[in-house]
Amino acid sequence: MRKVYVAPSLLAMDKNDYKGEIDKIIKLGVKYIHFDVMDEEFIGHTSFSFDDFKRVEKLHNQINDVHIMVAHPYEFAKEYSKLGADIVTFHYEALKDDVSVVDLIEAMKKMNLKVGISIKPKTDVNRILSFLPFVDLVLIMSVEPGLGGQSFIPNALDKIRACRDYIDKNNLKCLVEVDGGINDVTGVSCYKAGADILVAGSYLFGHEDIKERYNKLIEGCNK
Ligand code: DX5
Ligand code: ZN
Repeated sequence: MRKVYVAPSLLAMDKNDYKGEIDKIIKLGVKYIHFDVMDEEFIGHTSFSFDDFKRVEKLHNQINDVHIMVAHPYEFAKEYSKLGADIVTFHYEALKDDVSVVDLIEAMKKMNLKVGISIKPKTDVNRILSFLPFVDLVLIMSVEPGLGGQSFIPNALDKIRACRDYIDKNNLKCLVEVDGGINDVTGVSCYKAGADILVAGSYLFGHEDIKERYNKLIEGCNK
């Protein structure tokens, strides 16, 4: 059976207690920690800063899964690679054409990063399938990027299936990640559709029973 990973999205954590929140998710046994970066140009507002990442990075040894929702991904990838990011996922929509996508992927590999490519809910998945042999991860957004706590958009399921199919048919190693509106129902559907990594923010943070929630999601997938 395919293994499922739940990656907590720090966007939903209590920003006054980095250490307490990160300790909590380490105790859950997470492998990936999802860190959301936004800029004015691509999203309309910002989220975490480079300094926030430095604080977070020091507090754990898990995989830093950095999602850059920015208009100029090269510059951000470069900076995050220096700061210790492991995976950096950029948005396909931020690039002007497919040649720029290939160039960015190559450049990011030279920065010693694992590379992820992401699409927003309105972008056709067929536009990115041909890049999957060259990246480590594909991130399907199941909400419009920008805010936590939104409802899952079901068209993500078909996109996950399309990626899973392409990856399996071509024997690729690329992981499939999904982000936005993930809970113990939508997350299980995404896993069944072919996702490997479920990003979850508001489903996990801010709840006393974070451990039960985390386990419920994983158990639901493994049922
Ligand atoms: C949204 C971010 C997500 C967000 C998910 O733009 O990319 O990672 O934190 O939040 P939830 O899980 O609350 O939908
Ligand atoms: Zn994200």
